[in-house]
Parts: sequence; structure tokens; C-alpha cells
Amino acid sequence: MPHKLVPQPKLIFEKSSPGRVGCNLPVADTPEVDLKKALGPTRQSLHLPEVSELELIRHFTNLSHINYGIETGFYPLGSCTMKYNPKINERTAMIPGFTHIHPMQPADTVPGALEVLAQVQEFLCEICGFDSICLQPLAGAHGELTCLMLIRAYHESRGEGATRRVVLAPDSAHGTNPASAAMVGYTVKTIPTDASGGCDMAALTTALDETVAAFMVTNPSTLGLFETQIEEICRLVHEAGGQVFCDGANMNAMVGTTRPGDHGFDCMHLNLHKTFSTPHGGGGPGCGAIGLKAHLEPFQPVPVVIRNKEGKVELDDRRPHSIGRVSAYFGQFLMEVRALTYLSAYGKERMADISRHAVLNANYVKARLKDVLPAAHDRPCMHECVLTAQEYKKGGVRALDISKRLIDYGFHPPTNYFPLIVPEAIMIEPTETECKETLDAFCDALIAICEEARTNPDLLHDAPTTQIVGRLDEASAVKNLDVRWRAPQKVGV
Ligand SMILES: Cc1ncc(COP(=O)(O)O)c(C=O)c1O
Repeated sequence: MPHKLVPQPKLIFEKSSPGRVGCNLPVADTPEVDLKKALGPTRQSLHLPEVSELELIRHFTNLSHINYGIETGFYPLGSCTMKYNPKINERTAMIPGFTHIHPMQPADTVPGALEVLAQVQEFLCEICGFDSICLQPLAGAHGELTCLMLIRAYHESRGEGATRRVVLAPDSAHGTNPASAAMVGYTVKTIPTDASGGCDMAALTTALDETVAAFMVTNPSTLGLFETQIEEICRLVHEAGGQVFCDGANMNAMVGTTRPGDHGFDCMHLNLHKTFSTPHGGGGPGCGAIGLKAHLEPFQPVPVVIRNKEGKVELDDRRPHSIGRVSAYFGQFLMEVRALTYLSAYGKERMADISRHAVLNANYVKARLKDVLPAAHDRPCMHECVLTAQEYKKGGVRALDISKRLIDYGFHPPTNYFPLIVPEAIMIEPTETECKETLDAFCDALIAICEEARTNPDLLHDAPTTQIVGRLDEASAVKNLDVRWRAPQKVGV
């Protein structure tokens, strides 16, 4: 177990020594300008570190070694699908023919780029079972918002826009679901989860009436469970005149195995940055591609990328009922290049391996941990498992303490306290790209930590103790983010 204290690295400003330089510039052949005089008081306080080139290289190389990512270790962050992003994706995304084009170029000068967009759309239509795909939304939440705007336009076109003002969402939904509905102007009503972890059908039936615009269903749910009643749910919502939206952030459990379009959904969003392997986190870039059934197509964002009868890809903006653009140009184009590379590398034949292995890995972790961290619902999980650390709470140990202790054992913590309906939730998503040895090492660490929780809880309260920083106040860090370095004030400067 790596219990070595890592020395706190010095800031580059602390390594600075007056007059030391990183490169030698040629003697200037133009008149010197006194910057302080030329630029005024703002420059008086400019303080740059003065270090040699080698010190600079060492500084940033050492910093990069402190960083934790999927390429340095296991990243079981539930609901985030932190799978390995193959390097071949980056190679294709760097092809100059893709990087040197401009989104305002006339369409007939970029046939290759349009072909990429069309092929990604065609792949996704087939994988998800929809009639068309739009790649414009820039994140999962943006895809949710766009789908709800399409649903609103659909109801308005039928003269029901003013009456259908309610969107239903399960109590296990990701926070972006009710937020998206509220942004479109809908009132959100919550549908409870039943004892088996599925949708409470009685509550849904009671809630369905002529005011309901849509039901937002995450499948598999954020509990990591497949919604086994999904066909019946879609039938009931349709019978009441509503639309059914699939939050497809968890598509990694279904790729190549089953298709939301076939379950009865009217539209869905995908998180390309999760399921189809592009680096994500830290705020972007993302792609919340959406899939639509034919009846929603007239409203989709323009321009629509279509393949004409001759097989040529074109931009179609003759859509009088379109909700308009939802992003500039065509979304995050190089993400589509990466996603197409990933999809082509798997091919149709191997596509189901993604979901099968993701589901197998999650069930393996769940089974290995069952005696120390039982599952919130005792039935086979999909691509992630939601466990509960409730039994340790009476001894003063919380889910967060267990997760933070994992850092001392060399692992990134899993997601905690989500979904909100599970007490002391620990949500683990191993993804398909991890091998059995890694999963075993991770489970061994968690089993050892649970033993510590019983015998020496203080070890967990202080964790992590082996890193350059200890337990952080995450809420304050998010709310009052301040990462600026300020030069120490010198008297008389
Ligand atoms: C179930 C679920 N829905 C929606 C989202 C929102 O996706 P994004 O972060 O790309 O906006 C997430 C993100 O983690 C999610 O897990």
C-alpha cells in the first residue's frame, strides 16, 4: 500500500531567482522601450518567475505526474463513463484536412467533413433505433434541453402547447433533467421509485393526464438498473398524449445490445463524450447528440445534415417548423471525428462487446463487494452498481470517508451521494476497458478500507493522508473557486 508522504511541490514563483533566464534572446536591433513608462501602473506589479529552461521543464513535468487521469489509474466515477479513449481517435482528429477547415466555408468545399457528420448520424441512428440524429447540442444537458424544445414545438403544432405544461421525472433522475424542463418553462412533477428500483407504475398512472407534455426516463436508471417496464411506460404516456424522452447518458450499458428507439421512446440524448469515447471532464468539450422519431423531425435544429438520393451529403435548412439552431455551426466537430473513429474501430460486429463487458465488469465488482458494501437493490445491475455504506454510519464513517481513503490506496474515488434516494450511496462504474486484475485490486482495497472503518475509523476521517493535499472542502472549492497566485506585497514597490 503506497503510504509515502509526497512532499509539497514548490510553486514556480518560489523557485524563481532574480536574473535567471530560460532562453537567450538575440541582442535587440530596435530601440528599447521602458515598459513601465509605456504601459503605466498595471505593469508596475507584473511579477514573472525567473527560472532556467531545465527548472521550467522539471516543474511542469513533475506537476503532470501529480495529475490523476484514466491513463494513470482506475477511474470508477459512477455516471461518468471514464473509459479509456484510444489514441487512434486523437490521430484522426489531428488530420490537417479536419483541423484546417473553417465552419463558414461553403459546404461544397468540405465534402469530407460533411461525410463524417453523416456517417456518425447513420451509425447512431442504427445503434439507438431512431429516424434521425442531430449533432448540434454541446453537452448531455443541452441535448435534454433541445429534446424538450422539440417536444414543446410538437405539442404547439397540435394546438396543445398551452395545456401540456407538466414534465414528469423520476426521483432518481440526474439533476439536469428537472433543470432542463424548468428552463423550457415546464412544471416538474416527481415520480417515485418502487421497492425494486423501477418506476412506481401506480404513481405514474395517477400522474398521467392531459397536462403532461413528457416523461423523462433514464434507462438504465441512475441506480444502474434496467427499467424493465419501459415498453409499458411508453405505451401509458403515449395513451395520455405525452412524449417519452430517454436520458441516454447511460447508453454504455446498451450499445449493440438493445435500442431505446425500439422500446418506444420518442427522442433521446446521448453523451458522445462518455459512450463514444472522447476525453471529457472539467467542463468540456462535449456532444449531447439527440435521436428523434419521424414525427419530431420537422422541428429539429437547422441546418440538417442529409444524404441525398445520389448519396451526396448536403445541408438542408428549408425547415419552416424548425426550432432553429441550438449551437453555432455543427457542434464540436472534432469530437464527431473521434466518435466516428471509435465506432469504425469497433464496427457493427463487435459493438455489443462494449455493453456486454461494461455490464459484466459492474456485476463483478458488485458481487465481490457484496459482504462489505451491499447493493442498494439486490438485482443484476447494468454498467454501474450503486452500493450503500449505511452500516458504517453508526460507527461515524460516511460514504465520503471510504471514497477519500481510496485515494491513499492509489485509486480515484467513485461517485458519492448520487442518486439522492440511496442513503450513503457509492456509485461505481468500472467501464468495459478495465481488466479483471485492476477490478480485483480495487475491490481488495475497498474490502481493506471497510475493515479499517470498523477497527480504526479515524484513519478514514483524515483521508487522504498520502497526497500533496489532504481532505478538501469541496463545496467551498466549487462555490468560491480561486486559483490565482498573488505576488507577496513588497514594502516600497
Ligand atoms: C444520467 C445523466 N444525465 C445527464 C447528464 C448530463 O450530461 P452532461 O454533463 O454532458 O451535461 C449526466 C452527466 O453526468 C448524467 O449522468
